Amino acid sequence: MRSLRKTVLLGIVASVLLVAALLRSWTPRAYTYVDVRQRPASEAERLLEERLADGEQRYADIPYRVKESVAGLLARNGCVCEGESRGVRLPFSQLLFPRVSAHPLHTAFKASELEEMKRRRAQEYLGFQRRYQTPADLLIVAEANSPLQYPTQGVEVRPLKTILIPGLALEETSKDLHLVNLTATLGVFHLAAEVEGVSVRGEGEMHMTLWSSLLPRLNRQLQFVTYTNTLFHPSTADTVQFETDGHQSVFTIKVRHGVTPRLYNPGPKGEYNISALVTIATKTFLRYDKLQGLIDSIRRYYPDVTIVVADDSEYPKSVTGPNIEHYIMPFGKGWFAGRNLAVSQVTTKYVLWVDDDFIFTANTKLEKLVDVLESTTLDLVGGAVREATGYTATYRHTISIEAGEEDGDCLHMRRGFHHVVQGFPNCVITDGVINFFLARTDKVQQVGFDPRLARVAHLEFFIDGLGSFHVGSCDDVIVSHATKIKLPWQESDSDKTYAKFRYPSASSDASHTKNGLLYFKNRFQCLTHN
Ligand SMILES: *[C@@H]1O[C@H](CO)[C@@H](O)[C@H](O)[C@H]1NC(C)=O
Ligand SMILES: *[C@@H]1O[C@H](CO)[C@@H](O)[C@H](O)[C@H]1NC(C)=O
Repeated sequence: MRSLRKTVLLGIVASVLLVAALLRSWTPRAYTYVDVRQRPASEAERLLEERLADGEQRYADIPYRVKESVAGLLARNGCVCEGESRGVRLPFSQLLFPRVSAHPLHTAFKASELEEMKRRRAQEYLGFQRRYQTPADLLIVAEANSPLQYPTQGVEVRPLKTILIPGLALEETSKDLHLVNLTATLGVFHLAAEVEGVSVRGEGEMHMTLWSSLLPRLNRQLQFVTYTNTLFHPSTADTVQFETDGHQSVFTIKVRHGVTPRLYNPGPKGEYNISALVTIATKTFLRYDKLQGLIDSIRRYYPDVTIVVADDSEYPKSVTGPNIEHYIMPFGKGWFAGRNLAVSQVTTKYVLWVDDDFIFTANTKLEKLVDVLESTTLDLVGGAVREATGYTATYRHTISIEAGEEDGDCLHMRRGFHHVVQGFPNCVITDGVINFFLARTDKVQQVGFDPRLARVAHLEFFIDGLGSFHVGSCDDVIVSHATKIKLPWQESDSDKTYAKFRYPSASSDASHTKNGLLYFKNRFQCLTHN
């Protein structure tokens, strides 16, 4: 008896669940799948292209004269890398007037494999473009004298949420019937309120028509049109068509999540507490005497600041002390892998990158660098390094990219900077700086150091970061470089091994790797620098 009741009960529960599941799947939904592989080429897009072409056709027979001085500045989509010819060779001429040299990058590959590399790179690039472009990047032109009023930009909706579409209206002379159509592709329209004397068809659908014999009534009704995103595909945009007799307009509604911030607790107010705000990160390889010198010098000025050391020596020695984290890596993993590991362990708002042979002095005022990042929108700010000779270097570089065709883009790097930072006369805006910089931890982690760059590499990090980093450089925060220039008989064994790994010859694998990455990963065809 009891078991029968149990069976019946189970049966009822099961059928209730089944009905619930069926009901759920029956709820009408406009989409069964989302094409996340590529953005759909919409009707609106085709329309826009046609109209642009129309405009060009209409005035094609009116003659014009090209102004070379200005036209030459426009992106030509066919860049070249040109070096400067070698002038008179004077001592120090490269130091005083650095000559621009040009380097093709495809030489990183053998002639037999180059075609295949090209093909694969083109394919990967297509995928990249699809991921990074949204319909919100579409060129939209508002036509002359359109009676339609609509928002041109700034309309945004969270995925699957609803907004009122601001600014919709129709301005035309009075006639029997005033009619507008709205068409979306990733969502539906509703009315948040109804106005008497206005007829509506297609509420709750992707295509809605509204009409009235009284224009003010229709315009009042248009103020209550809502848009609900129904296709879950964040970081894209819906291209909405808004039309009346003889006129069409198009605007985009961005569909995206809000940006989730990553905030760091700076500690109590007052003076900057460097220990709470900054972690010092470095990478070492064999040079334990240098590393100890660095740590001792840091402790003189910042006794509690956390120091993270990444170490890929073959026979690691122990590096201990309060607030020191020593991470041992597989032998010879390399320079950027070590930087990546060190930076991944940082939990403070800022990370200071130093080389293991730097020495802190009274001029190494981290507070100044923190102040620059706290008071500006910069993400990363470099300092200066004083060599044993007394020469101080900031190693500022500007990086620019010229668009090329299928051969790839051209990368141009020059010594120098763009502007002086307002309020900080010792600081400038640039694109790449020296191995001594303070940066927002989350930004550095986002860009990352490509672990494939095992040996000589530095500016590659800034090339990867171009477009996400806002970089500055200040020459009044100075760290010292432990003596670098030694006569051969003064070099210790570890110095020699270090030199062998760190400074390979130009024709070596390391420089091939570097050029290969610039060619494939960053899609450059060539590089110029001075
Ligand atoms: C508005 O949409 C309706 C229904 O789809 C269509 O018949 C009509 O031609 C459209 N009118 C305009 C002006 O686009
Ligand atoms: C600075 O921050 C460290 C680490 O968070 C903390 O231990 C120390 O008490 C702070 N110092 C001051 C003066 O607030």
